[in-house]
Amino acid sequence: MSNDKATLFDSVRAGDLRLRNRVVMAPLTRNRAPNAIPTALMAQYYTQRASAGLLISEATAISQQGQGYFDVPGLYGAEQLEGWKSVTRDVHAAGGTMVVQLWHVGRVSHTELQADGAAPVAPSAITAKTKTVLMRDGVPTFVDTSAPRALRVVELPGIVHDFQAAARNAVETAGFDGVEIHGANGYLLDQFLKSGSNVRTDEYGGSIENRARLMLEVVRAVSDAVGGGRTGIRLSPVTPANDVYDADPQPLFEHVVRELATLNLAYVHVIVGATGGPRVLPDRPFDYAAMMAAYRRAGGKGAWMVNNGMDKALAERELAAGADLFAFGRPYIANPDLVERLRRGGPFNQGDRDTYYGGGAKGYTDYATLPYQSSSKTDSALNQSALT
Ligand SMILES: Cc1cc2nc3c(=O)[nH]c(=O)nc-3n(C[C@H](O)[C@H](O)[C@H](O)COP(=O)(O)O)c2cc1C
Repeated sequence: MSNDKATLFDSVRAGDLRLRNRVVMAPLTRNRAPNAIPTALMAQYYTQRASAGLLISEATAISQQGQGYFDVPGLYGAEQLEGWKSVTRDVHAAGGTMVVQLWHVGRVSHTELQADGAAPVAPSAITAKTKTVLMRDGVPTFVDTSAPRALRVVELPGIVHDFQAAARNAVETAGFDGVEIHGANGYLLDQFLKSGSNVRTDEYGGSIENRARLMLEVVRAVSDAVGGGRTGIRLSPVTPANDVYDADPQPLFEHVVRELATLNLAYVHVIVGATGGPRVLPDRPFDYAAMMAAYRRAGGKGAWMVNNGMDKALAERELAAGADLFAFGRPYIANPDLVERLRRGGPFNQGDRDTYYGGGAKGYTDYATLPYQSSSKTDSALNQSALT
């Protein structure tokens, strides 16, 4: 597919979502939800960014077992849903469209965050050589992840159920326009996919089909609950984030997207290279064009979203090569009006890394916007109803 005549600022459909432009706010964990409950400050932060074509929320735990870091929000308690309801109400009032990222961290957790100090769960009992962040004496502190235990087959329907229940809560109660399943960055579903973290010998390990089984069961269950057209998924074929590795990612991910193609999803979201790092990894080659082609050849009609190190010129090149949506992470931390800044060609604020994770308004809701200029007619017409 080629998008020769389109621009980043045209409206576009992604399944059932009608987006006012192709610029997406990538999911960004900011650790400002004490007791996992979204706050008024979070509503302000997301609303400031509502001119994005799509806002993807920070990763949000589907269950307490899925929690891996301090002060990240959840979708499994009544107060959490009430908090999110205020966020989506304000984002919608500002004309925005927002999905929530559904998260189970798997082994990237710590006994302190688990019920009764239990071990985190994983496909196999292999400790990730990575850190999580806990609050110690009021200071966010990196600590090693705890040794996980392998999930039993009989427990897996419960994981699928938790994803499905969270998706239903998100759309029916919390007011999100849809959900993004977090299948990337070395968290539970990515751990199952990849050979470095999954050495199971049952029907959820071994072959590509087996390693992809849990992810595909989750996607089907979530789509059944909220509609494929409101469901997206994030994938990161070669990222080393959180100590994941696959011996042969190309056929693995082409299998995954061929299966996803049958589910009429809103979008497939792909992180190119190392999340937040180089887009090309010499020791982990990957052909992203072939992955997109495999999806399209299998009949996939969802939008193709790409992320990592985007700027306007790169997004325009990716658009010409057939991608539909462009997710910006760090630029959205520092530039609430990123769409307008991209339209004008800058200038861009630089983010303060010290305030990425945890804290209050500083480095969160206090980044400046450009002096106001009226937006186009198309924008304001679409503002009336972001969803169709
Ligand atoms: C502070 C911070 C928090 C992040 N949180 C998440 C998250 O919750 N879920 C996720 O999938 N990726 C997360 N990421 C990765 C970003 O979504 C994105 O993939 C990465 O920053 C690369 O895009 P960029 O170059 O546009 O920043 C996070 C990145 C940063 C810097």
